[in-house]
Amino acid sequence: HEADAYRTDLMTITRYVLNEQSRNPEARGDLTILLSHIVLGCKFVASAAGLAKLIGLAGETNVQGEEQKKLDVLSNEVFVKALVSSGRTCVLVSEEDEEATFVDPALRGKYCVCFDPLDGSSNIDCGVSIGTIFGIYMIKDKENVTLEDVLQPGKNMVAAGYCMYGSSCTLVLSTGNGVNGFTLDPSLGEFILTHPDIKIPKKGKIYSVNEGNAKNWDEPTAKFVEKCKFPKDGSSPKSLRYIGSMVADVHRTLLYGGVFLYPADKKSPNGKLRVLYEVFPMSFLMEQAGGQSFTGKGRALDLVPTKIHERSPIFLGSYEDVEEIKGLYAAQA
Ligand code: AHG
Ligand code: MN
Ligand code: MN
Ligand code: MN
Repeated sequence: HEADAYRTDLMTITRYVLNEQSRNPEARGDLTILLSHIVLGCKFVASAAGLAKLIGLAGETNVQGEEQKKLDVLSNEVFVKALVSSGRTCVLVSEEDEEATFVDPALRGKYCVCFDPLDGSSNIDCGVSIGTIFGIYMIKDKENVTLEDVLQPGKNMVAAGYCMYGSSCTLVLSTGNGVNGFTLDPSLGEFILTHPDIKIPKKGKIYSVNEGNAKNWDEPTAKFVEKCKFPKDGSSPKSLRYIGSMVADVHRTLLYGGVFLYPADKKSPNGKLRVLYEVFPMSFLMEQAGGQSFTGKGRALDLVPTKIHERSPIFLGSYEDVEEIKGLYAAQA
């Protein structure tokens, strides 16, 4: 029998992805290798983020008087270098780089990665959870790599995920076959499967939005939030939970149910969140977990971006809650 103290059948993220990839015969382990490099980046940020909290690394000068890079930039450099050195990527889009990175042909692979190296930057200095978000496309033609390879609708993504750096370090991933959560075991330095086959509750009791923007909301959003606070059908009001790091708000929504919204408003008609490395990966995960994601006009994953830092309004979470929002937008249309 198993030794009581230790489970011996460790389902690490690498082993999980290998199993997943062995489903398709022509897989050559490229996605496994790519994801292992993303995991390396996440382990780095987990440790650096911890340091930043303890000694205020972000935006300060360190003991040698060096101009210390902000955690955004530091994390971005680590992810870009890890992704390029994996030899499995050819175009990279990062929130922190104005232009896409085209990998040197000698190191090119067949994947494009869109990522937000450090999500929730405003929360770094106060120690509130932050994260990394990524989405992965297969390129169209390795010999002819263009920006078109990353301006694809989100439904073409082959994998997406996020890592949340909070009280524990949790990586949530989908390679198109459901959603699984892995928690970093610092003693092993491995992400171990802790949340198998995550499914979001069909309906939730939580809404998550920055109420500070209420003055500028459009009618359907205002109506939905009003219904959450003053339900007409005698049901009890919903709870408001808003952390301000998309990764943390989405992770809670995925596990507890409810809806996360970053709507358009008069000041920003396309909302704030970026399509390629925030909206698409989180929408991909939500659909894989049985939820859905809506832009106010249509299914988020059907969007076809025209610029790499394009933004979109987003309403995502429990299937029935998003249905309600879709109904309000349809009524206004
Ligand atoms: P980032 O730190 O990567 O720029 O993302 C911040 C985003 C997202 O994490 C969060 O949901 C949203 O900003 C919060 O915006 P508000 O502070 O306007 O509510
Ligand atoms: Mn972000
Ligand atoms: Mn960011
Ligand atoms: Mn930012």
